[in-house]
Amino acid sequence: MKALMQELRENAVKSITGADSIEALEALRVKYLGKKGELTAILKQMGKLSAEERPVMGQLANQLRAELEKNIESARARLEAAALEAKLELEAVDVTIPGEDIRLGHKHPMYKALDEIKDIFVGMGFTVLDGPEVELATYNFDKLNAEEGHPSRDWSDTFYFDTDSRVMLRSQTSPMQVRAMETMELPIRIIAPGRVYRKDEVDATHSPMFHQVEGMVIDKGVTMADLKGTLNAVMEELFGKGTVTRFRPHHFPFTEPSCEMDVQCHKCGGKGCPTCKGEGWIEVLGAGMIHPRVLEMSGIDSEEYTGWAFGMGLERLAMRRFKISDLRLIFENDVRFLEQF
Ligand code: PHE
Repeated sequence: MKALMQELRENAVKSITGADSIEALEALRVKYLGKKGELTAILKQMGKLSAEERPVMGQLANQLRAELEKNIESARARLEAAALEAKLELEAVDVTIPGEDIRLGHKHPMYKALDEIKDIFVGMGFTVLDGPEVELATYNFDKLNAEEGHPSRDWSDTFYFDTDSRVMLRSQTSPMQVRAMETMELPIRIIAPGRVYRKDEVDATHSPMFHQVEGMVIDKGVTMADLKGTLNAVMEELFGKGTVTRFRPHHFPFTEPSCEMDVQCHKCGGKGCPTCKGEGWIEVLGAGMIHPRVLEMSGIDSEEYTGWAFGMGLERLAMRRFKISDLRLIFENDVRFLEQF
């Protein structure tokens, strides 16, 4: 029996030190020390021994079990360390390899100009509104005093969705005046930037889709002087001190009196050049005192309240702000162009 145990010990120690995985090691533990393992098998023969031999063999068996358990433990530690090593090796990151070049985009110059415009108006206490591009003709025309028969309602000027001309792509941001009057408490001070659509051919100053920034103030005792003062202050903030503007009389159905505002051409300083089509001035907005009928249609007492409104062409302002000579550059999105701002 001693010889059997000796043999078991030799075999076990050899295979345990040679085990090459945690799983193999566990199999060996079961093989030698498990309930149905080889050591148990030997101990089952204890019954055949004499009463003197039995405790001696029992002690030897316990020593062998303890020795093999210790062997298994250290083999496990060795295998675990090796596995960790291999994992670290596999997941190692070479920090000296050059990184991938990430190309950062640029904010579009028109949106840069819009951010500046919003900042200026918010600083003056205006609220920024957002509104629908698909609009009801009632808001785009009727409630703005442009009733049936007004030339701007023509099919050759406007994109309609239906045959009875009720739903359309808004041709101006002015419907936001009505939406603000219908939903906001007085006094009102808002701007509403967004896209507008007209059936225009593309050229250096036109596009069938462009952007406007609508603005409106309604309060008691508001006059044309406030309109001019505010817009001149905005232009000086945007384009720099001493920016020259001029106001010309104009007509809009929803304002009375109406005007357009020009800014002196940045290219030629007013002498006349291709950018301003020889005029020395660039038209940037339409404006005026809100027509009393428009106030009344939206439920505002025109005896008590007055207001003014304007609609700026955002592309035109961005062109002037960043000295861009052709409107088409704004929509082409050529990165070589966009990178310059
Ligand atoms: N909506 C006008 C346009 O598109 C501009 C405008 C806005 C004029 C507000 C007066 C008041 O031309």
